[in-house]
Amino acid sequence: MCGIVAYFGQKPAQPILVEGLKRLEYRGYDSAGVALMNGGSIRVEKASGRISVLEERLDAPNAAETCGIAHTRWATHGPPTTVNAHPHLDWTGKIAIVHNGIIENYDALKTWLRGEGVTFVSETDSEVLGNLIGYFYAQYGEGTSTEGQHPFEWAVQQALQRVHGAFGLAILCADYPDMMVGARRGSPLMLGIGDGEYLIASDAAAIVEHTSHVIYLSDNEIVTVSRDGFHTKTIHNIVVSKEVEQIEFSLEQIELEGFEHHMLKEIFEQPTALRNCLRGRLDAQQGKITLGGIRSEMRELTRARRFMTTACGTAYHAGLVGEYLFEQLTRVPTKTDFASEFRYRNPILEKGTVCFAISQSGETADTLAAVEKAKERGARVLGIVNVVGSTIARYTDAGMYLHVGPEIGVASTKAFTAQVAVLTMLAIEIGRRRHLSGEEAASLIQELSDIPDKVAQILECSDAIKSIVEAHIDQDNWLFLGRGFNYPVALEGALKLKEISYIHAEGLPAAEMKHGPIALISDGTPVVFIATKGSQYEKIRGNIEEVRARGARTIVVASEGDEDIQKTADHLIRVPDVPELLQPMLTVVPLQLLAYHAAVLKGHDVDKPRNLAKSVTVE
Ligand code: G6P
Repeated sequence: MCGIVAYFGQKPAQPILVEGLKRLEYRGYDSAGVALMNGGSIRVEKASGRISVLEERLDAPNAAETCGIAHTRWATHGPPTTVNAHPHLDWTGKIAIVHNGIIENYDALKTWLRGEGVTFVSETDSEVLGNLIGYFYAQYGEGTSTEGQHPFEWAVQQALQRVHGAFGLAILCADYPDMMVGARRGSPLMLGIGDGEYLIASDAAAIVEHTSHVIYLSDNEIVTVSRDGFHTKTIHNIVVSKEVEQIEFSLEQIELEGFEHHMLKEIFEQPTALRNCLRGRLDAQQGKITLGGIRSEMRELTRARRFMTTACGTAYHAGLVGEYLFEQLTRVPTKTDFASEFRYRNPILEKGTVCFAISQSGETADTLAAVEKAKERGARVLGIVNVVGSTIARYTDAGMYLHVGPEIGVASTKAFTAQVAVLTMLAIEIGRRRHLSGEEAASLIQELSDIPDKVAQILECSDAIKSIVEAHIDQDNWLFLGRGFNYPVALEGALKLKEISYIHAEGLPAAEMKHGPIALISDGTPVVFIATKGSQYEKIRGNIEEVRARGARTIVVASEGDEDIQKTADHLIRVPDVPELLQPMLTVVPLQLLAYHAAVLKGHDVDKPRNLAKSVTVE
């Protein structure tokens, strides 16, 4: 989704902003632009398409331009044209803004501003906000009480008090070249504090190269930076003091390190990522699990009468695995819901409900709204989040971080396996406090601690999986079938293929295929089965026969040592044999590789799939 980076310091701002925009590319975007302050005027350059197009339009960096704002846009209101790209200048040319989020009452404001003589050039809601700030700036001191406030800051506050919706903003005013303002409501924004320089960004990836000290703005707060330092206030002009926090990842972690794509790097990082996720929490020798982030919640969790998980996309699939895990290990009724559905229904959350909000980014708008809804209905809400300091991490009552480092590839991979690992630890630990025997728990803990090595083993099949994909790359429809714990994995396998290779795919519980989707099968249709050893093994073997009888080509993910299954598989992918409730962390890996190789063979931009955004911060 849209990204913001802004610089205020002593160095030429342009190269820093362009580099920052490149670090935001992974979020998904369709146009980009920069605005640079030069004495008392603002120079804007923007372009539809890739950042390289913008770079071609930019003049050589000017050493006098030491302050600027920049943006990658993911179109919501108005197509991704150059005129709709940010930054937007107000109609007087004095105010420049970059905006993430959506201004819901933009239409009414636009009509009103037009009546006041304000003119517009774009179709965006963001330009309306820029013009609203410009309007108040022009009004400063005109009969309104401004109580000695700075005109620029005052105008921003007045405008923000009147807009409905979400914003992350960086703003310049040509009359004040030594000043920059940022603001936030519902769309993340941080101030990076460097040595004699400040950066405003929507995502730490854009600024980590320059500083690791940040403050995170909360809703309805603004930050003003000047040559004298910075201060934070609310949009109602109440001073707030903020804690300086530390970004926990380094520049190396967001670079490719020899891999062709971030997605491939992240797939291959999974053994390390999982070890980091389990470290300090899982003690295989003692057969113990320690969950520091939710220590104070353990009593509530043990007594819980109902669990629910809520999330979007891949994180939703992890939540579904969690549903199976909680049911099996804790024997507490558990339900998983899409955050976008949950937020608008009228859910019955009886006393003793604990809700887990799962999100890699911690910024997904629907998941955040679901957190608010669950809290409002009296549930305890715990976060399972990757990005430290993100909005969901801060809005939940407590939580567990994934600790897998930044995930840059739009198609989520290492976050999924870590989300499942966290849910597994939770289910074992809560189960152990309820009815699970110490012996059973210890054996699962031992098996779980071996999962990272087993993932590493599967990664060795990458080339073999590529050959399988090559044989079927011309097929337009794929099915992914699994049962029980592997049903969510089938959903995830299909989602991965769709996301980056643009091939149509459906994930289904294997037996459901008979109730409709089997009609899709014709000669050569590739059907991926997750048919590892477990309680439903025989059943899924039956399902394999059913599709073979109708001409499908079967790609079977099977347990090591299962020789018998060979005769039903056109292609076989082996995974180590582990208890079925731990299998999703293994069986998903070949499906990630399958999607990756399909996208590369199709010649698609794996890390920047069309129409998708890494973090969906609008509804
Ligand atoms: C977007 C991404 C998906 C991701 C989903 C939820 O759609 O493209 O990969 O699974 O959002 O994101 P979250 O950050 O909340 O896990």
